[in-house]
Amino acid sequence: MLVAPSVLSADFGNLQRDVEAICEAGCDFVHVDVMDGHFVPNLTIGPVVVSAIAKCATKPLDIHLMVENNTFFVDLFAPLKPEYISFHIEEEKHPHRLIQKIRSLGIKPAIVLNPHTPPETLEYLLGDLDMVLLMSVNPGFGGQSFIDSVIPKAKKLSAMRDKINPNCLIEVDGGVNNKNVALLKEAGVDIVVAGSYIFNHTNKKEAIESLQI
Ligand code: DX5
Ligand code: ZN
Repeated sequence: MLVAPSVLSADFGNLQRDVEAICEAGCDFVHVDVMDGHFVPNLTIGPVVVSAIAKCATKPLDIHLMVENNTFFVDLFAPLKPEYISFHIEEEKHPHRLIQKIRSLGIKPAIVLNPHTPPETLEYLLGDLDMVLLMSVNPGFGGQSFIDSVIPKAKKLSAMRDKINPNCLIEVDGGVNNKNVALLKEAGVDIVVAGSYIFNHTNKKEAIESLQI
């Protein structure tokens, strides 16, 4: 299991220290939550802060857009050369076009599904994606409880992925900890995002390693 700590749970007064700490502790990606106060009822960070994160991160960035007007934000973050940019399908009229745009910028495209969105919606997109991110909480805040229905959903998506595009990774975000990670692994999940579990732990290396199963 690959691990992407969410910097939303970092201490923003000591952002460089915390980003360096998770990278040194052996995380696989740095997960960055971009919220616009419209698509979700919370507002986080823009390109100025994300470029500061990119400068001190020694692991690739995984940018999760929770915004209206995805194309505008893709253009804003593309110069930072993240590994992935993921956008919510619930907020995009032309997902296929946006996937192509992200790829043309040299970035791996990913789509995010809210807890209620069925995996079948991806049938004709999966072949063009590098990753699908399944939300296991309602997007907007760290520290919420894990929604169990993501487990059968990940199993269904994993079967679709094996058939349509075995190279596409499955990521799960929200409420992940050392108690539910085994179920996610068994369901075919490749990457977990974890914010509060890692940043509330006194030993970040131990917390990250407990998820790298
Ligand atoms: C929620 C964000 C998550 C969040 C995860 O909208 O997408 O990345 O920070 O935090 P935890 O692991 O605390 O649920
Ligand atoms: Zn996220």
